Amino acid sequence: MVENSTQIRSSVVASQLDVHVRYGGVVPELASREHLRAIVPVVRQAMEQAGATWSDLSAIAVTAGPGLIGSLLVGVTYAKALSFARKIPLIAVNHVEGHVHSVFIDNPEITFPALALVVSGGHTHLFEAKEIGAYRLLGKTRDDAAGEAYDKVAKLLGFQYPGGPMIDRLAPYGNKKAVKFTRPKMKGNDLDFSFSGLKTAVLRWTEQQDIAEEIATRRAVKSSSIEDLLKVTPQRTLDLLASFQHAVVQELLNHALRSAEQIGAESVIVAGGVACNAGLREAAKQQNGLQFYFPTFHLSTDNAAMIAAAAFPKLQRGEFAGTDLRPHPGLVLA
Ligand code: KG4
Ligand code: ZN
Repeated sequence: MVENSTQIRSSVVASQLDVHVRYGGVVPELASREHLRAIVPVVRQAMEQAGATWSDLSAIAVTAGPGLIGSLLVGVTYAKALSFARKIPLIAVNHVEGHVHSVFIDNPEITFPALALVVSGGHTHLFEAKEIGAYRLLGKTRDDAAGEAYDKVAKLLGFQYPGGPMIDRLAPYGNKKAVKFTRPKMKGNDLDFSFSGLKTAVLRWTEQQDIAEEIATRRAVKSSSIEDLLKVTPQRTLDLLASFQHAVVQELLNHALRSAEQIGAESVIVAGGVACNAGLREAAKQQNGLQFYFPTFHLSTDNAAMIAAAAFPKLQRGEFAGTDLRPHPGLVLA
């Protein structure tokens, strides 16, 4: 629950990781079932933590897309029912706009135009943000999203889902210059991304190194603790992880800097799960001239507070959704 677009009164996140870890990734049917199970207690808890009653609410914000249809349907149906029963206006929010907004919550001083890089398990998108709520797409991934590339490479090497945080924590133990990855050449829009080549290069590397046994050993370790993982991850693999992380970070930064220059951006906003990445945050700090902004960690990965905060300007403009609101799995921001 939020007070306005920058003040959070409560933030409750129900993690489904335990369910998906067993399958090495998100299983859509299980995701919607878990949403169904969690939605009523999570909303109740958010209201309790904020010390609020229904009559205190000016609006109910809900993610209308993009995302998995089953999960979106649970949220939209519940929000519509609440809105109807309690006579509270409904506001539809784009999930990606929520991620961008997560950065404004703790950095209200951001100046425009800004360049927004949204990097998550489903997105690697660059937007020009002329002001809050006015976005123009500049480039996006043509295949895997950056987080997806992390997760796929981790899975390939026998690490648990989600692999991003684990690779990030292991990368400092390796030599980032050990393995060379060729940068993809983009025909057409050179602000687009491609990460599938990196994944294929890692697959080729595992074949050359003949490390099936190492991977099997790691797969048997049901732990995400760094000490446990270091015991089953030799130097050559740590070097590969460091090199992979370096390649992804350079690709993201290179695109962000080029597009920021193109639009004359004053600031760069980085949002989404991959914005947690320590390597990316560190590399961004080294850039002179441009100010980079990241969300605080608990707002980087998916959460409802960013959706409510992104709804606030819409509340002020009176942009409400009707009872005919439908979820859109492929909803685009700009
Ligand atoms: O935004 P998010 O919670 O969900 C989506 O909308 O996708 O992002 C999840 C993604 C996963 O792919 C996860 O591996 C990645 O973010 N991620 C990271 C890190 N923390 C989460 N990737 C790299 N480094 C991290 N520290
Ligand atoms: Zn997300």
